[in-house]
Amino acid sequence: MDLNGKHIVLGLTGGVACYKAAYLCRLLIKEGAQVQVVMTEAAAQFITPVTMQALSNRPVYVSQWDAREPNNMAHINLSREADAILVAPASADFMAKLLHGRADDLLSLMCLARPQETVPLLLAPAMNREMWAHPATVRNVAQLRQDGATVLGVGEGDQACGETGDGRMLEPEELLEDLIAFFQPKLLAGRRVLISAGPTYEAIDPVRGITNLSSGKMGFALARAAYEAGAQVSLVAGPVSLPTPRGAQRSNVRSALEMDAACQAQAEHADVFIATAAVADWRVAQAATQKIKKQAGSGAPTLDFVENPDILATLAAGARARSGVLYCVGFAAESQDLLAQASAKRLRKGVPLLVGNIGPATFGQDENALLLVDAHGAVEMPRNSKLVLARQLVAHIAARLPAA
Ligand code: CTP
Repeated sequence: MDLNGKHIVLGLTGGVACYKAAYLCRLLIKEGAQVQVVMTEAAAQFITPVTMQALSNRPVYVSQWDAREPNNMAHINLSREADAILVAPASADFMAKLLHGRADDLLSLMCLARPQETVPLLLAPAMNREMWAHPATVRNVAQLRQDGATVLGVGEGDQACGETGDGRMLEPEELLEDLIAFFQPKLLAGRRVLISAGPTYEAIDPVRGITNLSSGKMGFALARAAYEAGAQVSLVAGPVSLPTPRGAQRSNVRSALEMDAACQAQAEHADVFIATAAVADWRVAQAATQKIKKQAGSGAPTLDFVENPDILATLAAGARARSGVLYCVGFAAESQDLLAQASAKRLRKGVPLLVGNIGPATFGQDENALLLVDAHGAVEMPRNSKLVLARQLVAHIAARLPAA
């Protein structure tokens, strides 16, 4: 549970997107957070405090004149115990108000009175596309960012008003991911990370091919962890149906040759390359252009193979890696003798860091155990979820990078 022990003040302002705040509240609690809801009177026109109280299991605050607090200072008490204030939805009007430091309702009063150093403010804007694009809103968002608020993105699509465009509030799952990411240390801030993930698919003919059991989950978890750590992430993904981690630029490829071309091109702009993909070592020399038909009596067809390029070894031997600009990390999925195999593979691939795992014990699963091998020895990372391991691995990589 990524928000365990975190105390979040969830602020709601007036907007149709308040209906999503109910589900967001549930998600925050499921992830371990304590949620204190504070609503504006306008928000209470869209969703009732009763609903939010039932979901958050705490009394909801709406008014700055609420006498329930012994000192009658809800704006101070509620903000002092918060790890963050997340206003979702944040209306155009509310942002305009915050910008001027106005404080004529409990939520804006609380935002203004919060200790800026210890209680970060995150805003999830929600409004009609014209309002979002209006120069006043654009100006306000820029100024709020300058004043230290984290203004999250907006979604694009159908709006409650019937128009289509930018300005929808992000979905609750997206806001949850953004909040979790917010709390992660920014160990890769300013770094560009390229990740290869998943299997490759080598065609035999237009309907058949050779692939492997890699699920892509470890690479996708690393993409998420690197983004959470502040990196700009490019993800070159073989054929998997996993959702794209937030913030990652994804390129879909199929064959090893396509993966090679995408990785070589994108590595030009990368500071780190993490090769988690299970790249096919060989491809069919001449894939048939038409389906190979079974012919009675003529037996099985014979396939000739040629070797695929080694993406990792090529990049590790390239000029950027040799001059220390590109830091390459390899993976090794083995079936036994992990330490010996991984150590040998690290030298063979010419990479400073190689991450070993037992393939059959992890393929397709949400958990894994890793063995990190570098020039100084090996470090075991015990079995855990792939996301937790990915965050730990990001920390190991960040510690090994030359100063930015
Ligand atoms: N790799 C790569 N391109 C290839 C093959 C492998 O980039 N054509 C990368 C993988 O992404 C991984 C590392 O190299 O990071 C090791 O992959 P693995 O398949 O374990 O290594 P191989 O060199 O194929 O060795 P083996 O004989 O064990 O299969």
